[in-house]
Amino acid sequence: MFAQRVRDELSLRWLEPYHGEAPFRLIDASREHLRPWFPRMDSTREPKDTEEFIREALRGMAEGREAHFGIWVGGQIAGVTGAHTIHRLNRHAEIGYWLGQDFEGRGIMTASAAVLLDYLVEERGLHRIEARCAAGNDRSRRVMERLGMRREGTLREGERLADGTYDDTLVYGILASEWKERRGTR
Ligand SMILES: CC(C)(COP(=O)(O)OP(=O)(O)OC[C@H]1O[C@@H](n2cnc3c(N)ncnc32)[C@H](O)[C@@H]1OP(=O)(O)O)[C@@H](O)C(=O)NCCC(=O)NCCS
Repeated sequence: MFAQRVRDELSLRWLEPYHGEAPFRLIDASREHLRPWFPRMDSTREPKDTEEFIREALRGMAEGREAHFGIWVGGQIAGVTGAHTIHRLNRHAEIGYWLGQDFEGRGIMTASAAVLLDYLVEERGLHRIEARCAAGNDRSRRVMERLGMRREGTLREGERLADGTYDDTLVYGILASEWKERRGTR
C-alpha cells in the first residue's frame, strides 16, 4: 500500500527512510507532550535516529513482523501508528500510536487506527488485535474504547514512566469477528 485515504486530507502511508526528517521534526517539536508516555523518544536525538527506526521497521515489515504507517494531514506528517508485534502463528498483533502535539483532539488517531485495524484484520487476516497503555494515559484509553476494544486485564506496574515511577499497564483487545461486526464487513 503506497497511501491509504482515511478521510478528507487524512491518509496513511508506509514509513520510508526518506520520510525520516519529517517524523524527526515532529518528535522534536512534541518532546514534552510525548515524554510522559513515551520516554524512549528521548533516544531519538537526530534525523538519522528516525531513519534508523524506519529502516528497522521496514526490515520488520519485509519479514511480516511489523507494519508502520505515517499519518499525514495534507502534506504534513501528524504522527505514526502501527503494529509492532505481529505473531503469524497465533495471528495476533499489538498496535501502538502517537500524534504530534498540534494534531491532538481532532479525531485523527481514532480514524487512523481504525484503518490500521481494517488492514490487520481484512488484509493480513489476523484474529486478534491488542493494545496496551499506562493506566494514567486517559487519551490513549479513550482511543481504544472508541475503537470498541475491550479492557481485558491489568499488568501491575508494567509501565516505567519518564519520572522513574511505575504505572499499571492496561491491556485492551478486540477480535476480528468483533471488529468486522463493528465495521459491517462480515
Ligand atoms: C494517545 C493520542 C494519540 C490520542 O490522541 P487524541 O487526539 O486524544 O485522539 P483522537 O485523534 O482519536 O481524537 C479524539 C479527540 O478528538 C475530538 N474530536 C475533535 N474533532 C473530532 C472529529 N472531527 N472527529 C472525531 N473526534 C474529534 C474527540 O472528541 C476526542 O476528544 P476527547 O477524547 O477529549 O473526547 C495522543 O494523546 C498522543 O499521541 N499521546 C502521546 C503518545 C501516547 O500516549 N501514545 C499512546 C501510548 S499507549
